[in-house]
Formats: sequence, structure tokens, C-alpha cells
Amino acid sequence: MQSLKNKSILLVITGGIAAYKSLELIRLIRKAGGTVRCVLTKGGEQFVTPMSVSALCEHPCYNDLFSLKDEAEMGHIRLSREADVIVVAPASADFIAKMAHGYANDLASTTLLAADKPVLFAPAMNHMMWENPATQDNVKTLISRGMTQIGPDEGDMACGEFGFGRMSEPETILKALSNFFTKDKPLAGKSALVTSGPTYEPLDPVRFIGNRSSGKQGHAIAAALVDAGAAVTLVTGPVSIPDPSGVHTVHVETASQMLTACETALPCDIAICAAAVSDWSAEASGQKIKKRDDGTPPSLKLTENPDILATISKHAKRPQLVIGFAAETNDLLNAAKAKLQRKNCDFILANDVSSDKNVFGSDENHVYLIGSGHEEDWQQSSKKEVACKLVDFVTRHLADKANQPIAAE
Ligand code: CTP
Repeated sequence: MQSLKNKSILLVITGGIAAYKSLELIRLIRKAGGTVRCVLTKGGEQFVTPMSVSALCEHPCYNDLFSLKDEAEMGHIRLSREADVIVVAPASADFIAKMAHGYANDLASTTLLAADKPVLFAPAMNHMMWENPATQDNVKTLISRGMTQIGPDEGDMACGEFGFGRMSEPETILKALSNFFTKDKPLAGKSALVTSGPTYEPLDPVRFIGNRSSGKQGHAIAAALVDAGAAVTLVTGPVSIPDPSGVHTVHVETASQMLTACETALPCDIAICAAAVSDWSAEASGQKIKKRDDGTPPSLKLTENPDILATISKHAKRPQLVIGFAAETNDLLNAAKAKLQRKNCDFILANDVSSDKNVFGSDENHVYLIGSGHEEDWQQSSKKEVACKLVDFVTRHLADKANQPIAAE
């Protein structure tokens, strides 16, 4: 059960069909012991009424910058002063743009511009609006200013289309809020980069070289790092699982796109490469490759892809701690030790991916943590447990390093 005891949340509801979920969010926050005051935009009012919002909050619903009554009672400056945190849910594309560009033309945007409190925002919009570079740039701006993004999720949209853009469920937003209030997070102030999922290397407009990675392990690591207080960028290949909450997720397809996204995320303190990056790419044909009349198969000219883990390990902006995985089907530990050396990372999680181990797509994993002169068997565990163990290990390792005396000249 999440606790928000004695916490005061200012909830800003902007225009989107997901606004109806914010009514449930108010109920959940109050059930967890928090108090909620609400600002409703004109767009938000198209989807939920001030009456229902104020009945659920048991406080007036604020919706007018120029209301003499509201200003006398509370005032747009006091709205943020009296809150511990501001949550914008749903955060429409328009409101995200307003926050990014400092607009102050209604009560909600003015309150945000005048705010002195941390802001969490839960985007909700059509998937094309979400993927639009304008929205992505605005979101990046908000994150770079210290705001926390929650979601969005992938799924069916109210407009009948499918994709990323659905607002996270109220329970997920509540969890993000509760995490936010958890004091003494061990990785607070640290930044991390995680790669996850497979990469797809196109052969032609319809075919690609890919692999069976589900992204479950990498995504679980990103989520565990966020729970420990780190600011996390997750660079993921195509997967069918949702983006973890509170993580800045960048979606890519190919190894070279993954490398570019990872280099953009540097510098950071921790890098964990869990992606199953395709080792090769092909010169992609612009047209669908057709079968030949004489039955001869086409030959593929493969080129080796850049090694992202090795590139990060020798980068001028190398993170303090770099950890990779070794997916092996034979001689697991020796092959992993050789990879640790070759890629110049600090630790490797070795896992046996032989087909009888059913690692791909499964919720379980058996890994060994290998460092120079260091070997731990983490036994068969869930991928979430592996993620938590890894984050504990990272926390202890960074703390030990910070306590090491500086060598004399
Ligand atoms: N990796 C990477 N970029 C690549 C290939 C691998 O960043 N082009 C990373 C993986 O994310 C993993 C580690 O390197 O952390 C080892 O990946 P793995 O697939 O086990 O090994 P490879 O380097 O691909 O070597 P091989 O296929 O020969 O075992």
C-alpha cells in the first residue's frame, strides 16, 4: 500500500479523454492519505466537470485565473506554495508545449510558471502527436529542467488508433508519486543509461534481422534504478512491453540508432547494456527482395555493427560504472570473462541463453556477476529480482568507491 500521509498534491488536469482517469487518481491519492487540490483547464472541463473534481477533492476546483473569488481564497501563487508536489495528469501535448515554452495564459500554465515545487507529468495524447519531434523536444526540455515523466503507455487509443500515448493508469501514477516521496533514495542525484530489447536491422521494407529479446530484463533494470532514485534514460529496441514509469525512454530500431541515442545520453554516472544488439546489419534494399525464377536465394552482404558497450567503455565521457551482459550458449563463465576484458567494462552479467534455458521472453533468469577477480552466482531468480540485486550491487559499489582514500601523488 502506497503512503502519501500528510502530503499535499496539486493536481493539474488538462484537456484529454484521459481526464476521467484523474478522478480515480484523486480517489487513490486521498485513500493513500494525501490531500488534493485541483486546477482544471478549459480543455479539461470538456471531459470532467469542476463539480465532480471538487466533490472528490473536498476542496474547490480552481479553473479561472481571473476569478476574484479564487484569487481571494487561494491565489495562483499560493496554489503551488501550499503543495509538496505538482502532478499534471493528463498532460496534453498542448500543455506540455506551454510548460516547455513558459506560457502563462491561463490559471494552470501560470501556476506552473510560478511554481517552486517539483513537477511530475503524465502525458496523454494520440501516438502521432506523442512521437512528433516537437513533443519529444518539449518533453526533453521538461526533463532537463528536472521534471519527472510518468508514462505514457502503449495501447488502443480513444481515437481508434494504436500506439504510445495512453496516459499511465492511476495506480502507476500513484506509485510514481509515492516513490517520489521515499526519502534517502540510494541513487538520488545519479544518472543512468540502460539499453534494452533487440535491434532490428532492415533487409528490405518488409524484412529485418532481429532476435528474441523481449526487453524484460533491461526494462526491469531501468525501473529498479528509478525506484532507487536515479534519473534514467532507457534506449530500447522494438519490444511489446510498456515503457517503465518515471524513465525517459528513447525508442530505436537499429544498432546504429541505438549507439547515437546512447551517445546523446552521455555523460551519465552508470551505464548498463542489456540490449541484445544485432551484431550485423545488411545493405537494405529499397524495394522488397523478390524470389528469383531460377530458385537461387539472394545473398546478403553483412557488415559488423558498432559495439555500443565497448564504445561507451572507451568513450571520452565514460560513465563511472559500465556493466554489460554476456549471452552465451557454451563455456559461459570463460566466454563472459573474455568479453569483460575485450569490452573494457567493469562488470558483466553472464547468462546462459541455450534454447533449453528459455531465457528469451521468460520472467526468470540465472546470471553470474563477473568482475576482475570477482564472481557471484545469483541463482535462478525473476528478472525483477535480478534487477533489484544489480541495483543494490551498483549502490554498494559506488558507495565503496566514494569512500576510497585518494591515492597519494
Ligand atoms: N553489445 C553492444 N553492442 C553490440 C553487441 C553487443 O552493446 N553491437 C553489448 C550487449 O548489450 C551486451 C554485451 O555487449 O551487454 C555482450 O553482448 P553479446 O551479444 O553477449 O556478445 P557480442 O558482443 O554480440 O559477441 P558474440 O555475439 O560474439 O558473443
